[in-house]
Amino acid sequence: MKKSKRLLSIPPYIFSDLERIEAERKQAGEEVISLGIGDPDLPPSERITDALASSLKEEGAHRYSTSAGEPFFRNAISDWYRKRFGVTVDPETEVCVLIGSKEGLSNIARGIVDPGDRVLCPDPGYPVYSQGGALLSDAIPELYQLDENFLPVLPFRDGSSLIYVNHPNNPTASFASPVDVRNITESARESGAVLCYDNAYSELYFDGDPPPSVLQTPGSMEGLVEMHSLSKTFNMTGFRAGFAVGDSSIISSLKKIKSQIDSGVPRFIQKAGTVALEMYSGIRRPEEVESSAREFRSRMQTLVGGLNDAGFDASMPRGTFYLWLRVNGSGTEFVRDMLNAGVVAVPGRAFGPAGEHYVRFSVTTNIDSIQRAIELICRMPDLKNYLPHH
Ligand SMILES: Cc1ncc(COP(=O)(O)O)c(C=O)c1O
Repeated sequence: MKKSKRLLSIPPYIFSDLERIEAERKQAGEEVISLGIGDPDLPPSERITDALASSLKEEGAHRYSTSAGEPFFRNAISDWYRKRFGVTVDPETEVCVLIGSKEGLSNIARGIVDPGDRVLCPDPGYPVYSQGGALLSDAIPELYQLDENFLPVLPFRDGSSLIYVNHPNNPTASFASPVDVRNITESARESGAVLCYDNAYSELYFDGDPPPSVLQTPGSMEGLVEMHSLSKTFNMTGFRAGFAVGDSSIISSLKKIKSQIDSGVPRFIQKAGTVALEMYSGIRRPEEVESSAREFRSRMQTLVGGLNDAGFDASMPRGTFYLWLRVNGSGTEFVRDMLNAGVVAVPGRAFGPAGEHYVRFSVTTNIDSIQRAIELICRMPDLKNYLPHH
């Protein structure tokens, strides 16, 4: 069967080998603990699931929504932006609802780039920028370097059409301060590219100030779009709800593209999403969000402490549920050896060439499992090969 050049341009799925070994171990009845995918095991708050259940019974709940999202949800998004970031956005022209932010990160590129255009993506970075965004739009992903704090090395190269930036970051867990965000925005403006700022982890900080929005940068919103997700903030990954906010011209292009692709997030999910966002009364998180951040923090402390006792150099991240660990030698080999010991993690290489010597752990499983995973890692016969030399 004919396959498009576009399809063939997407690199092979680096996880497939690992998934096969994991499935084989499970089938053989062997122990497997997953510190792999970042999908919270904690449930959403009952206020959210109650809203979902009751809105399912409302008249018209079963009918199509629109790809841009229902007015009540866009209003809730605009209110949340004002409370959380002190930024005013017009729910009609500056907000678009997304079926999870992943979809938006990919579809946004289609309305901005032409075949052959360059799209700047972080290395390491969430693979959807270079693959779902650039390659599926027949554009060329160009990886940009990060500094020792895993922030973009500025200035951005001229001549690209679109730049993706993501903080708090997957996979490195790096945070950008308001000054960093301002510098990033100014550099993107100078380069003439659209800046797509992925703020999916804005609510997952352990301490300190809440992370900023790119729309807080002084000046106009021109050329700026920010992506948010309800997935990580409210433990709603499987609900599929997120949103894009920013420059009305970019939002209108995104709406036009999406109107040809999807018919929107189900109304009852948007109702649940509205109740979730309305839990905020200001910049600080409501208790429901605060408590899951506390739980991720204590799990992370367990993981970091355990790995350091084993001889690694892990430092406590400021947030997200990811630990980006440097190992001696190949991260992919370490992941393969861990898998044979019964622990699943993601090789840093899955996020770009700069991830060669790294492994990403995710703490989306309970503390007992994390402790058990550490025990299993400590028993690995070749563990010392991966420890940093001191
Ligand atoms: C950096 C980043 N952005 C966006 C997403 C997509 O989240 P969702 O589509 O569930 O909103 C993820 C998911 O892992 C992510 O890590």
